[in-house]
Amino acid sequence: MKSSPPERAVVSRVIRSRRSIRHYRPDPVPPALLQELVDLALEAPSSFNLQARSIVVVTDEPGRAALAEATSGQPHPREAPVTLVFVAESGAWSEDRDDIWERARCGGAWPEPFAAASPADVRAFYTDPRRRGLEREYAVKDAMIAASFLMIAAHAAGLATSPMNGWDETEVKKAIGISDRDDLHIALLLPLGRPAETRLHPGRRDRSLTVHRETYGSTPHGARAGRRDQVPGEAK
Ligand SMILES: Cc1cc2nc3c(=O)[nH]c(=O)nc-3n(C[C@H](O)[C@H](O)[C@H](O)COP(=O)(O)O)c2cc1C
Repeated sequence: MKSSPPERAVVSRVIRSRRSIRHYRPDPVPPALLQELVDLALEAPSSFNLQARSIVVVTDEPGRAALAEATSGQPHPREAPVTLVFVAESGAWSEDRDDIWERARCGGAWPEPFAAASPADVRAFYTDPRRRGLEREYAVKDAMIAASFLMIAAHAAGLATSPMNGWDETEVKKAIGISDRDDLHIALLLPLGRPAETRLHPGRRDRSLTVHRETYGSTPHGARAGRRDQVPGEAK
């Protein structure tokens, strides 16, 4: 795809102006828009195209109340008309996901030999992550990229989101009906809706502190590394 300067400008503006919003208006998200946003999230890349993540869309009152409880009463999941729960599927690599290979084969995206070898290749690749206990981490990567796509798409559509780490996993799993699944994990909660507040950009560390050339550490010394995901006024 060729990108034009106006398209680049729009993408840049959308990415730069997105903020994490903690207060929401109660207006529901139109179902067609919600579906479009979820579809865009599913366009995110994933390791081996395994898509080791799912999205649970929670809009009903009991589910939202349970999620609010699971986040120790933080305002955003209580106020937002929708909360998306990004679920990481750490067993994806060992499951039968023939539909994936079939789609890539039928659409002509993957040559037949590549598609045919994929299930075995995936299992072989995962031998090492599995030995090191990294299956969950690999699935969380897929889930987080999908969530990032959704955050950008939602902002472009005039909606707000707020990624959340502050929750009790056991409670969230209970709220979405997967208490009995050891192969499913919560990657992220993402309240979604019309913003009821504006937030200023909290800033980013200077590029000279966070971008390295060729090897890590080629930045000026003396910079204090600090935790940046907790800001004043944020309920964790
Ligand atoms: C993985 C992750 C977890 C987060 N968890 C929370 C949270 O539990 N509660 C909250 O209010 N904000 C949470 N945030 C939002 C961050 O505080 C916010 O992204 C950061 O301050 C930068 O602000 P910005 O998103 O507006 O650029 C989280 C962000 C990320 C990426």
